[in-house]
Amino acid sequence: MLETRGLDGSIDEDMISALIDGEQGTIDRRIYSDPEIYKLELQRIFARAWNFMCHESQIPNPGDYFINYIGEDQVIVVRDENGTVQVLLNTCRHRGNALCRAEQGNAKSFVCSYHGWNYGLDGTLLNVPGETHFYRDRIDKAAWSLVKAAQVDHYKGFYFATLDPSAPSLHDYLGEVGRIGMETMTAQGEVVAVDGVQKNVIDCNWKIAVDNLFDWYHVRISHGSAAKAGFVNLRMMMPMEQMVMLGEYGHAIGGPMLSEAHQAEIDKLSDGERAEINALSDEERAKWSPRIGERRPLRPKAAAEAMGPVGVRATGHPNIFPNSWISTRAMQISLRLPKGPFETEVWWFTFMPKKYSEAERRAAMKFIRLSFGPAGLLEQDDGENWSQSTHASQGVVGQTYPHNLQMGLGQDEVLEDPSGQKRIETHVNEHAQRWTYKCWAEWLRAKDWDELKKTRSPSPTGRI
Ligand code: FES
Ligand SMILES: [Fe+2]
Repeated sequence: MLETRGLDGSIDEDMISALIDGEQGTIDRRIYSDPEIYKLELQRIFARAWNFMCHESQIPNPGDYFINYIGEDQVIVVRDENGTVQVLLNTCRHRGNALCRAEQGNAKSFVCSYHGWNYGLDGTLLNVPGETHFYRDRIDKAAWSLVKAAQVDHYKGFYFATLDPSAPSLHDYLGEVGRIGMETMTAQGEVVAVDGVQKNVIDCNWKIAVDNLFDWYHVRISHGSAAKAGFVNLRMMMPMEQMVMLGEYGHAIGGPMLSEAHQAEIDKLSDGERAEINALSDEERAKWSPRIGERRPLRPKAAAEAMGPVGVRATGHPNIFPNSWISTRAMQISLRLPKGPFETEVWWFTFMPKKYSEAERRAAMKFIRLSFGPAGLLEQDDGENWSQSTHASQGVVGQTYPHNLQMGLGQDEVLEDPSGQKRIETHVNEHAQRWTYKCWAEWLRAKDWDELKKTRSPSPTGRI
C-alpha cells in the first residue's frame, strides 16, 4: 500500500468536503491555488491512479523507451529484453540524478551521467564503478535497483501505470465509462502513434484544463475567431443534443451525441466494414458526421459491440480520471500534466488508423496541427482563459468567491438503457464537471485505495 504523508494540519478531510458544494453547484477557488491541496493531489490522486504512459507502437522493440510523468515523478517507459513493458522512476538510486535525458529513443541500458551507476532495461542495478575498491564489495546491488511502477497494464495497446500496488486492475479502474472512452480509439481497428508528442506549458492549474474538455458552453464565445476564419463551424461545434456518461472514480464522457435513428443509418452504411464510409467525400460525410470536417473516421458497426448501444452514440469527450483527455475532434490523447498549482504541461499524442493512405494522413495532420498544441487555434483561445481563471484564484478577496457550476443542476434524469448503460441526454450542461470535482474530493479525502473503494460514489442514478 502506498503511504501518503498526513495532512500538515492546515487542511483536513472536512475542509476538503467543504470545498465542493454539490447541492449548490459551487466550488471553492482555492482548489486551483492552495499549495497544500496541490501536494495532496500529487499524493492521493496521481500517485494512486492509473496514468496513461504511451501506445505500444511508440516502443515496439526491446530497448525502446519513452519518458512520461506520474504526477511530477518522471518515469521511463521501456520495453525490456523479454518484451515486457517496464515503468521505472527516472531517478538514480545513488544521488537521484535523472538517468535518461532524451524524451524517446533506444537504449541497451541506462548509465547515470553523475557517477556511472548502470541499470538494465528492467531497472536492475548491473554495475557500480568502484564496487570492489571504493565500496569494498559491500554494496547490496539488488537492494538499489530503480524504483518500478507497482502495476503496468494496457488497454488494447494503450499502456497505463500506477505507483500503488493496492490500486484495482486497469480493467476495473476504467470501468464501463473509461473503457468506452478508450474504445473511441481502439474501435477503429489497428492504430499507430504519429512520431513525436506536441508539448507546451500553459500557466494554469491542471484542473481548469480538465474542466474545459467537457465544456461545450465556451465554444461559441472563446472560439468565435476560429469560426470567423472558417476553421470551425459553430453550429456543428455546439450541437444542442448532448449526452453525458458518468463513471466510477471520476471518469466521464460529455458532449455531442448521435440519436438512435442517426446511429441506425450509420450502421446500415458501414455494415461491419468502414470502407464504404471512408470512401465518402467530406461533403458526403457531413450528412453522417455530427461535426463537419472532423478527421475522425465514423465508428464502424462493430464498435457497438465494444462500446454498447449507448456508448457508441456518445461522441463527446472522454476523460480518463484524472488527466487523460481522449479528443474526439481527431484521434488524439491529451495529458494535462501538473507542474505546480499554477502551471500545466499540455501534451498531445496523435494516432492514425494504420490503414490510412498518405493523403489521408497528411490531411489529418494539417487539421490536427491547426486545432490543438502550441500552433492550434483552439488551444490558444482556451489557454488564455485558463490562465486568467487560475491567476484570479490567487487574489485573497477574489478567491473567497466560489465558481459557479450550476448549469443543468437538478434538471436532468439519468436514463438506463435495457443493456444497463446509463446516460443523461440533455442540452449543453455542467454535469461532467460537477462529477469530476465530486470524485476529485473523494480521492483527496480517502487515506488509501481501500478507503477510496469503499467511499467513492457509484455512477449516479435518478434526478441529477
Ligand atoms: S547520482 Fe547516479 S551514479 Fe551517482
Ligand atoms: Fe476550447
